[in-house]
Amino acid sequence: MIIALTGQKGGVGKSTTAICLAAHAAETGQRVLLVDADPQGTAGTWGDVANEAGRLNVTVIAMGATMHRPGQLNAIAANYDVTIIDCPPRHGDVQRSALMISDIAVLPCGPSATDAWALSGTLDVIREAQTMRDELRACILVTRKQGRTALGKSAREVLRESGLAVLEAELGYRVAYQEALAAGLGVTTFAPRDRAAAEMRALYDELERYYHGKETSGCYITQAAAG
Ligand SMILES: Nc1ncnc2c1ncn2[C@@H]1O[C@H](COP(=O)(O)OP(=O)(O)OP(=O)(O)O)[C@@H](O)[C@H]1O
Ligand SMILES: [Mg+2]
Repeated sequence: MIIALTGQKGGVGKSTTAICLAAHAAETGQRVLLVDADPQGTAGTWGDVANEAGRLNVTVIAMGATMHRPGQLNAIAANYDVTIIDCPPRHGDVQRSALMISDIAVLPCGPSATDAWALSGTLDVIREAQTMRDELRACILVTRKQGRTALGKSAREVLRESGLAVLEAELGYRVAYQEALAAGLGVTTFAPRDRAAAEMRALYDELERYYHGKETSGCYITQAAAG
């Protein structure tokens, strides 16, 4: 299972989600590869911190725009059960390369309508990749939700109009995510009883169900939405 955390908007939680998913998958006994595809090196730095703390349970490697080529990531990922790719913000060759090799693209999105609007450029790139690769599934993940209120109606509507599935799992805005990464851990290890950990476990379970084909509705951009 290869999952890419992607999207053009910066600071929406791609790296946080990628790292926490990877760490959680490893806790469940999977062999996990975490690919740092962002020159900012967030995942790589986390790996260094985790390693120094003696808590690193995943393999972290850096890869760029050639990862989709034969003999590159596919050769390495074959030795792992789960591969998670942390993509850089903005569009470009790295994001395209990740979409050429992933099973599932997860697009984190903040909870407001303006966050949802910012997805449109990313949806074009997904659509293009799905034209070339039937097997690429994509879904939107609502992140950094504040408080207990339901996602604003306008934001949900904008997201629905995108034609892509919005995952049932949502991530709240919680300091546990920030503290976990700073400690070189994923949130499920750092604060297993925190709501953040429950959210992360639910997200991982839902992605696994996606991968195994139990939930497929809405993972392709529909013709109607594609216009
Ligand atoms: N669910 C969350 N709750 C609280 N803080 C969060 C959450 N997700 C991310 N953050 C914080 O928001 C900031 C940006 O998160 P992150 O680095 O994961 O985003 P990103 O999409 O990878 O950014 P970039 O586009 O720059 O790579 C970080 O300070 C991170 O700790
Ligand atoms: Mg990042």
